Amino acid sequence: MPEKNLRELFHETLKDIYFAEKKILTALPKMAKAAQAGELKAAFDQHEEETQEHVTRLEQVFAEIDQTPRGKTCDAILGIIEEGQEVMKEFKGKPALDAGLLAAAQAVEHYEIARYGALRSWAELLQLDDAEELLEQTLDEEKETDLLLTQLAEERVNIKSA
Ligand SMILES: [Fe+2]
Repeated sequence: MPEKNLRELFHETLKDIYFAEKKILTALPKMAKAAQAGELKAAFDQHEEETQEHVTRLEQVFAEIDQTPRGKTCDAILGIIEEGQEVMKEFKGKPALDAGLLAAAQAVEHYEIARYGALRSWAELLQLDDAEELLEQTLDEEKETDLLLTQLAEERVNIKSA
């Protein structure tokens, strides 16, 4: 693939995940508020702080390719967040609510992991060293969050929902 094309793809995908992170920032407080288990609330609160940092890092990546930070509508994340909101409505006050919230949050994380994984590889190919490092940091945090959510699901929340 000629470098120019990969650079464009990198920029387009950066806009996609920038839009997604900002949407996630608005969704997380609602999920924290809806969560029943204290640990799950805490996990959502912590990830909200991390997500703010992810947005800042993306702005630094835009700077490295001399672009103004700008989002592009990401239908995938809108759909995933919408499904989470449906779970909140349908399972409000029910024992399975937290299990549903956890699953919704993991769908978000998996989307982000896919995007950051691709962006990190492309940054490497494009020899954007600072961008590669920033994207790797965020990728690691998304993976850690995913692991934490899995632990919560297996240890507590699913047991209570059963
Ligand atoms: Fe993120």
